[in-house]
Amino acid sequence: MARESWTSRLGFILAAVGSAVGLGNVWRFPWMTAEYGGSAFLVVYLCIVLLVGVPGLLAEFVIGRRSKRNPAGALARLAPGTKSWGFVGLFGVVTALVLLSFYSVVGGWILRYFAASFTGSYFSQSGAYFETISFGWQAAAFHVGFLALTAAIVLGGIRGGIEAATKAMMPLIVVLLAVLAGWAISQPGAGEGLSFYLNFDPAPIEENPVGMLRAAAGQALFTLSLGVGTMITYASYLGEDNSLAFDGSVIAILNTGIGVLAGFVVFPLLFALQGGLTNVTAGGEAGAIFIGVAGAFQQVPFGRAVAVAFFGAILFAALSSSISMLEIPVAYLVDEHDVSRRSATVGLAALVLVTGSICAFDPRLFDFVAGTLMDLMLTAGLAGFLVFTGWILGTDALAEYDSGAGGLARSLGAPWLWSVRTILPFFLLATLALNLYSLL
Ligand code: PHE
Repeated sequence: MARESWTSRLGFILAAVGSAVGLGNVWRFPWMTAEYGGSAFLVVYLCIVLLVGVPGLLAEFVIGRRSKRNPAGALARLAPGTKSWGFVGLFGVVTALVLLSFYSVVGGWILRYFAASFTGSYFSQSGAYFETISFGWQAAAFHVGFLALTAAIVLGGIRGGIEAATKAMMPLIVVLLAVLAGWAISQPGAGEGLSFYLNFDPAPIEENPVGMLRAAAGQALFTLSLGVGTMITYASYLGEDNSLAFDGSVIAILNTGIGVLAGFVVFPLLFALQGGLTNVTAGGEAGAIFIGVAGAFQQVPFGRAVAVAFFGAILFAALSSSISMLEIPVAYLVDEHDVSRRSATVGLAALVLVTGSICAFDPRLFDFVAGTLMDLMLTAGLAGFLVFTGWILGTDALAEYDSGAGGLARSLGAPWLWSVRTILPFFLLATLALNLYSLL
């Protein structure tokens, strides 16, 4: 069967933005920003997105568009005669499954809150509510529900499933978040949240520079969906050659913009209605967003409607990301092992049903997988893709980058390749070493 492709350039861009914009923006980003001292983290994170994230994104695009294959097949195909590069790609395929396992549990929480927002059943006791639903059989049940939605979209294929779903969901997310942000900023007391978020205070960087750098790097990769092969896979469905540099910049800008926008919803809300961060982080930072924001809705006029909009936006964002995770191993089985899309999707969903349920029953394992293990796997994965692009593809990578690129993008090609060969892998390997060191 002929390999599918996106219907248009816009379809590709929206799907990639859909993958990038997700729980990373609305849940992990405020969590990390809160943990590492607000505005200072924001600044370090934005620098890494620009200097490491965007070049990394372009490397994945180049590999994907050139090979028209899933990550494992792509690396094996572009480096004929050397088996080992295929394993680097396969590592990405495995990472995608690990990632989806915990992501789907958080997706289940969102699904749960979304449904409960219609009645407002968690409004009066948001802390206790989160305790009961976050781990255990209830969490597992909603994880399965979220996973089923994910699989249903992936079953529809590239055009009919992923592209159609992201085209419908992305504009909704932006509109909902923009309206919510406008409303949150206008709440009395929101100013304190805004200043925590925006007034630059370098003290947290001086206190813990290494920890901050590690966290910001991990978050930058996570939010741009890098190091797994998502962007390789999505670029492999590109039909014609347009400027990858342009598309990549648009994707990074939209992703960052939507992330920053989510911060304008979360921080003013937490400060205006919950009296600051310390009141809500007691149950651990990961849960803060749910407890804090959910609890705030109780005090708000039309709180249920606001809550439905809020969790609806997050649910869409989460789904447009989780489908990109499942698509990686599906593409792998379809491309390399001649499995039908249907069997691949159903079989892999069954696997994640089990691995995700394990995360749903074990909070400590969940924390480890969602934090440390993800940082390690994404960093290692992206380092592998960069070394591959810089040293194995080399000038071929530049030719692929140039194809369809305009004058400005072309002039940036050589410095891009240089950084992909040298400082970027070095930076990632150093971060990886720091991560491993702190683990031991
Ligand atoms: N970028 C997604 C988010 O921010 C997560 C993701 C990571 C998706 C890696 C695919 C691959 O939620």
